[in-house]
Amino acid sequence: MSLDRRIDAVHLCLSRALEQHPQAAFASSFGVEDMVILDLIHRLDLTIEIFTLDTGRLHEETHALIARARTAYGRAVHVFHPDTEELETYVAAHGSNAFYDSLELRKRCCAIRKLGPLRRALQGKSLWITGLRRAQSPARSTTQELAFDAGNGLMKLNPLVDWSEAEVWAYVERHQVPVNALHRRGFPSIGCAPCTRAVHPGEDPRAGRWWWEQSGARECGLHVDTHGRLVRAHTTTTAG
Ligand code: ADX
Ligand code: SF4
Repeated sequence: MSLDRRIDAVHLCLSRALEQHPQAAFASSFGVEDMVILDLIHRLDLTIEIFTLDTGRLHEETHALIARARTAYGRAVHVFHPDTEELETYVAAHGSNAFYDSLELRKRCCAIRKLGPLRRALQGKSLWITGLRRAQSPARSTTQELAFDAGNGLMKLNPLVDWSEAEVWAYVERHQVPVNALHRRGFPSIGCAPCTRAVHPGEDPRAGRWWWEQSGARECGLHVDTHGRLVRAHTTTTAG
């Protein structure tokens, strides 16, 4: 499919979804996919709340891009932070970098720094929008464009679900979209600074996330259902 047709399809799916779900929110990590979606939202002049989860451990390059995007697009970005008491209790018990010590402590860190703030960000919403793509990992290969997110109790729209990485970058080039400086330094996927490293050419794009873990499905929990499984097609409707 040509890039123009892909763009038209996203316009249609975003507009329709927002007609049905005025209480929608766009979750942006300011990764390249999210910058494409932000640019599309801006071009379409869509009214939608944009939020980001500031874990407290993001790269400086990510903070710089958030500031740049705010200026470039003139949009408010709601920043959600971890609950102070939960974080202080965790750090007092286990230290600042306990995510390296065990999978359990890593998941608890993600739960405090990401999942708690996500729950608050989604309160009162009936739809959330993310930049997930099927090609990002085998675990995401069956992700649907629009599906009920049972874990969070609302619909989830992934407008770029079937875009390739090349199409994402073609859009960035065409529209001169600002992107995180780390992408050009070998970071296809960017999370928290201590838990993300650059990948080598040809390596799995998510290989740099929680690189010390053995599991093939390294996820923080933002995109898993209540039973801890990666979200796959359950109840599915197509927006476009
Ligand atoms: S993660 O689960 O491994 O962290 P990934 O970095 O691939 O996810 O991002 C997938 C999508 O999840 C992003 O396009 C974005 O919609 C959402 N997301 C991830 N991290 C954040 C964040 N810090 N703030 C807001 N949304 C996020
Ligand atoms: Fe904590 Fe690392 Fe998860 Fe960030 S990615 S919330 S620092 S474990």
